[in-house]
Amino acid sequence: MKKSKKLFLVGALFTSVSLLLSGCGEGDSDGASGDGEKYVVATDATYAPMEYMDDSGKIVGIDIDIVDAIAEEAGIEIEYKNYGWEPLFSAVQNGEVDFAVSSITITDERKETFDFSDPYYFANQLILVPEDSDVKSFDDLKDKKVSVQINTTGHEAVKDLLGNTSSSIVATETMPLAISEMINGNADAAVGDNAVINEYKKNNPDVKLKVIEDDSFEKEYYGLMMKKGNDELAEKLNEAIQSLKDSGKLEEITGFKVE
Ligand code: ARG
Repeated sequence: MKKSKKLFLVGALFTSVSLLLSGCGEGDSDGASGDGEKYVVATDATYAPMEYMDDSGKIVGIDIDIVDAIAEEAGIEIEYKNYGWEPLFSAVQNGEVDFAVSSITITDERKETFDFSDPYYFANQLILVPEDSDVKSFDDLKDKKVSVQINTTGHEAVKDLLGNTSSSIVATETMPLAISEMINGNADAAVGDNAVINEYKKNNPDVKLKVIEDDSFEKEYYGLMMKKGNDELAEKLNEAIQSLKDSGKLEEITGFKVE
């Protein structure tokens, strides 16, 4: 009696493990290694208005509208997955997803590891500070504590100013967290992409904040990021981006022209 119960349990365990394994296999086959029709796309949906979750938990935003338009143009299907900022880089690199959309700036350093589509959006860094702050320029942050989303171009800019290992840099997992650090007084300023900083200020009129612009920030271009050497996908995405530029559809979504 005892023995047969044990055997049953072992059997049940075996079945569930194999079910689990076959489940994984399936995920892979309609995912990154796909049939050329459906593409799995990683994002960090904490970045309103670019990519975020609406009240029903759906991933939405300007970036999502752009990729949806690209997909329609290219005749492909997209499934979005919310990976978070840092994990999305490894998800692309190890082929777990086909590409990533996440307001990702095309940089020389990233190009060593990833391929990018042609640019579809441009941006620059902005500084967000409490309304009564004396900060007037990026240079004024030299002796301040600054919060950023980790491993973003904003983080790089602040490292250039304060030093790579400066303890005055508060680097958080998401941009909303970086902004909270500043509001809570753990940092004097937050630095991040313009669309997101402006959106935060707009959506939180009760928090007394001001936005500081500085011409010394470089112009940044967003691209879709994929694994190196995926030329076929890059070509497909670039063709679609070009048609959206030519037809004026991209400008309709972004509100400005991207050459
Ligand atoms: N454009 C910046 C960068 O590429 C920040 C992007 C952050 N995106 C996000 N969804 N959190 O580094």
